[in-house]
Amino acid sequence: MALPAITWTQEDRTAIARSGRLMKAVLSDETSRLTSLLLGKPQSREAIEGELGTAVIDDLVRFGVFEQSGAVLRARFQAQSLGAHLVFSDLRQPMRVVRKSGDRDNYVDPMWEGPTLSNLLVREPVESGLDMGCGCGVIALAMSGYCRRVVALDVNPRALMLTSFNMALNDVGNVEVLPSDLFSAVEGATFDRIVFNAPIGMELKPRNALESGEQILIRFLGGLDRHLKPGGLLQMNVCVKEWSKANLATNLRTWLGGSHQDFQSLFIELWRVQSGLKFYIRRWVAPFVLPRRYGRLLRIRRGLLVVERNGVAVHAETASTYDTWAVPLGPRFGATLVQSLMASVPGKQQAGASATVLNSLHADQHTFAGSVLATIFGKLQKVQAAALLWQCAFIV
Ligand SMILES: C[S@@+](CC[C@H](N)C(=O)[O-])C[C@H]1O[C@@H](n2cnc3c(N)ncnc32)[C@H](O)[C@@H]1O
Repeated sequence: MALPAITWTQEDRTAIARSGRLMKAVLSDETSRLTSLLLGKPQSREAIEGELGTAVIDDLVRFGVFEQSGAVLRARFQAQSLGAHLVFSDLRQPMRVVRKSGDRDNYVDPMWEGPTLSNLLVREPVESGLDMGCGCGVIALAMSGYCRRVVALDVNPRALMLTSFNMALNDVGNVEVLPSDLFSAVEGATFDRIVFNAPIGMELKPRNALESGEQILIRFLGGLDRHLKPGGLLQMNVCVKEWSKANLATNLRTWLGGSHQDFQSLFIELWRVQSGLKFYIRRWVAPFVLPRRYGRLLRIRRGLLVVERNGVAVHAETASTYDTWAVPLGPRFGATLVQSLMASVPGKQQAGASATVLNSLHADQHTFAGSVLATIFGKLQKVQAAALLWQCAFIV
């Protein structure tokens, strides 16, 4: 698999930053030939030269970002403009193709969910941020705007190389990029914000770096109390299995360990699986390969988990197809919504919560956003509180 061939001399850095500035300017016109090239469609060198000039193309060919055969240029990576940033990552391929390629541990997430997750981040100025499993660095780039310093970690060396490339491309200087198996490179360090777009995988055992399943989640959450500062916030994309003897709320208590009382959590469910042939096979096979304490598999759930270290031990849940609105409604809406949801949980529903979120938007977005808010606040429920009440009813 290709990698940008960069030596990281000052000359290289300057050339990358210059090509970033120029590409961003050209990409503001969606009909440009460069847009097509970066979507994976080969273009004539002459046409791209007309937009970028000779020197930038020569640099990008030298770095291995573009490939030239005859008079035709091909991009070895895809790129997306996200807000003020231009982000390169691997070309999109179906996972079954990647698995067969023999390079499956080196394939970098082609921003399947990073842009959506970025638009749900709570963006207040803070001192320190950690992007766990940074991939191409799409989330670290967003965090660099509101965290004074950011650490971006990954086990995949290609991911680290692409993250460094993207930082140079966008002239971002406050992100440190390190190889690390989960927290191993930052032992002893604490952060105000941690974001983890976790590798998914519904398998019982990890398959590769992008499909590590629930085991990585458990290992990661077990280390949270050592790395999240008091008042700090974790946002992560998760895929979890729920069992008849352990739902998400109970699992979280176990996974967060001794200090679980310190953490308030909120799960915004994106989708769930509780039917289909694959699900039923897992449901009936799991009890034979897992300890009996799990019980039967009830459902597999995917969504955004928000965990705040604020001394409030409450777990709440809601559901929303946020993949349909997070990008069109923008990062201010996502950030205000997540903050309002967290604030609504411990006490009563905040009367002005929806109004606060709507105020962050343009008037012509109010109808769409209003329906999103009605659904998401309507479904908000306190799971632990409900479970407690239920137990009390039995005791009485
Ligand atoms: C779903 S991708 C997310 C990539 C990127 N943050 C994004 O949003 O596009 C998960 C990332 O976690 C990384 N990863 C997997 N296991 C890891 C581990 N044990 N420690 C650190 N990173 C890991 C993978 O290499 C991959 O880049």
